[in-house]
Amino acid sequence: MSTRQMWNDRYTKKDLVWSAGPNELFATEIRNLKPGKAVDVACGEGRNAIWLAEQEWNVMAIDFSDVAIAKGRRIAAKRDVNVNWITEDVSTWKLPKYEFDLVAVLYLHTTIRERELWLKNVIDSVKPSGTFIYIAHDSDNIENGVGGPQDPALLPTMAEITNALKGFDVEIAEVIERPVSRDPGHGKELEGIALDSFVRALRT
Ligand SMILES: C[S@@+](CC[C@H](N)C(=O)[O-])C[C@H]1O[C@@H](n2cnc3c(N)ncnc32)[C@H](O)[C@@H]1O
Repeated sequence: MSTRQMWNDRYTKKDLVWSAGPNELFATEIRNLKPGKAVDVACGEGRNAIWLAEQEWNVMAIDFSDVAIAKGRRIAAKRDVNVNWITEDVSTWKLPKYEFDLVAVLYLHTTIRERELWLKNVIDSVKPSGTFIYIAHDSDNIENGVGGPQDPALLPTMAEITNALKGFDVEIAEVIERPVSRDPGHGKELEGIALDSFVRALRT
């Protein structure tokens, strides 16, 4: 089964796989930025993209799962916000260069080969003075955290991400502890602490 089919299956089996609201760290970061043009890369069901649109951002949201994108569309319509939904693979579909004030990548875990392709693609799409935000399970999460992919090849080191940010001022590159509930976004019972890589960088 292809990775795309695997994600489609996962999104088909459950009403909402991720939380309805945005990632908390992401939301905290965005509150300090002036709204402009944003892209949410690997947006899933659109929890962050829809929230961004509600904060007056002009948002493009991309994911290769058509099931996730269809859910995102429905939720956005219910909440009466506009998002430009794109069903594409970010390792092959070229994002416009120097286009976005904000490029957000949350929990996109792929093989190294794919990562080399999408990382360059998404970084190139940040405008001068634009912000790049990357949040994902840290490579240390397998040993010391809960949840997320258990294959180390899917989890880049922080250095792999920051080294790709040529021409950027890397303002934050740190591991953040995130409490995880047993049924993420749907309950309060704590499963444990996940370790997330968090990078925030500004194109100079
Ligand atoms: C863990 S989910 C995260 C979803 C969303 N970023 C969030 O935080 O709620 C990972 C998402 O990456 C998408 N994905 C994986 N590989 C992709 C690729 N090459 N191109 C586009 N989307 C991809 C999957 O379909 C899935 O929706």
